[in-house]
Amino acid sequence: MDSILVTGNGPLNGQIPIAGAKNACLTLMPATLLSDEPLTLTNAPRLSDIRTMSDLLRSLGAEVSSLQHGKVLAMSSHDLSNLRADYDIVRKMRASILVLGPLLARAGQAEVSLPGGCAIGARPVDLHLRALEALGAEMDLRDGYVHAKAPAGGLRGGVIDFPLVSVGATENALMAATLAKGTTVIRNAAREPEIVDLARCLRKMGAQIEGEGEAEITVEGVDRLHGATHQVVTDRIELGTYMLAPVICGGEVELLGGQMELVRSFVEKLDEAGVEVSESEAGLKVRRRNGRVRAVDVVTEPFPGFPTDLQAQMMALMCTAEGTSVLEEKIFENRFMHAPELMRMGAKIDVQGGTARVTGVERLRGAPVMATDLRASVSLILAGMAAEGETRVSRVYHLDRGYENVVEKLSAVGAKIERIHDQ
Ligand code: UD1
Repeated sequence: MDSILVTGNGPLNGQIPIAGAKNACLTLMPATLLSDEPLTLTNAPRLSDIRTMSDLLRSLGAEVSSLQHGKVLAMSSHDLSNLRADYDIVRKMRASILVLGPLLARAGQAEVSLPGGCAIGARPVDLHLRALEALGAEMDLRDGYVHAKAPAGGLRGGVIDFPLVSVGATENALMAATLAKGTTVIRNAAREPEIVDLARCLRKMGAQIEGEGEAEITVEGVDRLHGATHQVVTDRIELGTYMLAPVICGGEVELLGGQMELVRSFVEKLDEAGVEVSESEAGLKVRRRNGRVRAVDVVTEPFPGFPTDLQAQMMALMCTAEGTSVLEEKIFENRFMHAPELMRMGAKIDVQGGTARVTGVERLRGAPVMATDLRASVSLILAGMAAEGETRVSRVYHLDRGYENVVEKLSAVGAKIERIHDQ
C-alpha cells in the first residue's frame, strides 16, 4: 500500500487549482438514471470514488465514458438492464445508496445493498427509506439489501418531513420526486451547495424544482426528464483543505476557482484565528496575518454551518495554535479517529465523546501515522507540513477517494511531499 512522505518546511507560495466537488459529482452521476437521454458532466474530479460510481452505474446498464482525462463524464442510461446494486460495489462507497431514488422513480423498483464507506459512525439509511416511503414506495430490508417497489403507476408526490438534516437523503428524495406524480414538499431539507448543484442540473433536465438552498424544497413531478450538460460546482472541502496549507506553513496561496459563498462559515473561523482570506479575480487568496494562529472553538453543523468534512483539517491547524480550542462534532459520532494519530506527532488533544479539546503546542514532530478515513488522511498531511522532521502517512487509499493529485498540487506551491509506492 502506498504512503505519503511529508517534511515540514517553510512558506508556500503560488496557486492551487480546485477541482469539481466529489460530493456533488456523486449525486449528479446517479441523476443520469432518471432519463433515457445523455447527461454530461464537466469539471468532474478524478477520484477513485467517481470510478466506483461509474462502475456502479455501468453495472445497472448505463454507459459511462470518461473523456478529457476524466474531467468530462458522458453518461447515458438509455436501457437499464439491471435494477440491483450489488454489495461488491456498494460496500466500497456509501454514496452508492444514491442510485435508489432514481432507479425507483424511473423503473419502479430497485434492490440496493446496504452501504459501507468511511468508518465514521453508524451512518444508517433510515431517512432515505422513509423519504421514499413518503412517495408511496414499499421498502423491505432482506439479506443485507433494500428491496424497494413503487406503487402501480409509479411514485406519487408527498410530504417528506426530515427529523434531522441529511444530505444524502435529501438528494435521494429530490431525484425521486422529479418523476413522481404531483407535488412533493421536502421539509428540513439539507441546504448544502451540492444540493443546489443537483437541483440546477435536474432543472436543466426538465425537472420543476423550487427552494433549493432553503429548508423547504418543492418539486412538481414531470413525466420524463431529458438530456443535459452540467458543470460540477467547485469542491468546497478541497478548497477549505488547501486554504489551510499557507496558514500552517506561512506564505500566500491563491485557490483557483475558490468562491467565498462556499466556505463562509469556515472563513469566519479562520478570520477569528488570525487568517486573511481575500477574493481575487481567479479565486481566493489566503495568508496568515501574524506569526501563530489563535485557538478558536468550532461546532460542526449542516450547511451553512461549519462543515464536518473540514473538522479534521481544522484540528490539525489547532494543534499548533496559541491557546486551547474546543471542537464539537455534531454530525458524526465517531469522527475523531485522527486525534490519536495527531497525538503521535506531539499534539495535545483530549477527546470526550463528541468533543475534542486541543491545546496548541509550539511545534509538532514528524512521526509515522495512519490515515483512518478520507478527511483524517489529509489532516495528517497538513499536520506533517507543520511538523519538525518527516511524517509518513500510510493507508493513503482513503486520500485517493477524495483528493486528486494531492502531491502535485501541494508540491507546486513549495511543500515537501512525495508519494512512496510500496513494492
Ligand atoms: C454527506 C457527504 C459527507 C458529509 C456529510 C455531512 C456525500 C457523498 N457525502 O454524507 O462527506 O460528511 O454529508 O455533511 O455527499 N443519518 C441518519 N439516517 C440516514 C441518513 C443519515 O441517521 O438515513 C445521519 C448520519 O448518521 C449523520 C447525519 O444523519 O449523523 C448526517 O448524515 P448525512 O447528511 O446523510 O451524510 P451523507 O449524505 O452520508
